Amino acid sequence: MSVIHARLSSVSYDIHIQKGLLYTLGSQIASWYKGNDIAVITDSTVDQLYGSTMENVLTNAGYKIHKITIAPGEQSKSLINLNYVYNKLAEAEINRGNLIIAFGGGVVGDLAGFAAATYMRGIPYIQVPTTLMSQLDSSLGGKTAINLKVGKNLAGSFYHPKGVYIDPMLLETLTPRAYSDGLAEAVKYGAIKDAELFREMLHAASLEEIKDNIEEIIFRCCSIKNTLVQKDEMDKGERQLLNFGHTIGHAIEKYHDYQKYTHGEAVSLGMLQITKNSEALKLTEKGSFEALEKLLAKCKLPTEMPQMDITQLSVIITHDKKTVGNHMRFILLRSLGNSYIHQISKDDIKSFIV
Ligand SMILES: NC(=O)c1ccc[n+]([C@@H]2O[C@H](COP(=O)([O-])OP(=O)(O)OC[C@H]3O[C@@H](n4cnc5c(N)ncnc54)[C@H](O)[C@@H]3O)[C@@H](O)[C@H]2O)c1
Ligand SMILES: [Zn+2]
Repeated sequence: MSVIHARLSSVSYDIHIQKGLLYTLGSQIASWYKGNDIAVITDSTVDQLYGSTMENVLTNAGYKIHKITIAPGEQSKSLINLNYVYNKLAEAEINRGNLIIAFGGGVVGDLAGFAAATYMRGIPYIQVPTTLMSQLDSSLGGKTAINLKVGKNLAGSFYHPKGVYIDPMLLETLTPRAYSDGLAEAVKYGAIKDAELFREMLHAASLEEIKDNIEEIIFRCCSIKNTLVQKDEMDKGERQLLNFGHTIGHAIEKYHDYQKYTHGEAVSLGMLQITKNSEALKLTEKGSFEALEKLLAKCKLPTEMPQMDITQLSVIITHDKKTVGNHMRFILLRSLGNSYIHQISKDDIKSFIV
């Protein structure tokens, strides 16, 4: 098993990564959680696939389980569901001496994390992420949130889990599209901070070879995110490197009403678009775009920007929350594995997205 230590200003926790970890979760939790009750928050897809295993593992370790199941999908990260979860926690008489497990992808992780952060002013919780996106990105870093009608992730908090337990075996049931979605973030980590990881993925003979090596890839990605989060917990500086490809990516997702592209697919296009332009402006080492395009295509991610109204797209981008005065912060690659924050005046944004 690989373990990464997250040491933050007020708390510390460990990120555990191992194939088959789900089967030993009960005894691992038992080493530090001495209460009786556990609320397991999950979605119905994950529940159908792994719910009974989770229940058996925890019951065998002596715990009483209260399962709270929501519908799968982004629309579940809502105030309505938050209220539903609060009510279920109350019914089960969960209190600050108990434990919540977020068992699912990023939707469950963000919603359950926010419920844990706010119910009774904070219940201890752990993340057991089940999608690649959540195993290498959303389950660590402490950001929890729900979506509001006016926008995504607008109500949230920073609330770190007591531990993150990653079992890459759970990825075997993901759809190919969901797998590729998560790989977009892995490509991002390599591009911004780990030239070797990027090269290894680039030189893999096939997507299957990348998948065969996923445990190591998750470890490397989590290590990078953890280091950035430790340096900049509140996302005011270096942590923003994680936004590479995301400003344009978010805008592409929104432009298409979140219907056409998954998050990872839009980030794939965002990384390519910004790098094509930064390379042309000699802000990025030549050849970076071509390598990025090759790797993203291998991961079965889109590489062709769709036809879009550029004025409309730039309006969406300038309404992005990361605008500071007349400037926006974009993340650029200096070269593969090396990235930096670059201020762009709002008037120059079009030259980066055309
Ligand atoms: N907190 C953060 O730092 C952070 C970072 C990135 C993304 N996010 C959030 O994460 C969310 C996206 O997460 P996601 O991509 O995991 O989506 P998701 O949670 O919606 O999961 C995608 C789909 O996969 C299904 N699924 C989950 N595990 C499965 C498995 N093992 N086998 C088969 N199917 C499975 C789910 O039921 C769902 O239908 C977004 O809401 C995003 O805002 C948060
Ligand atoms: Zn992302």
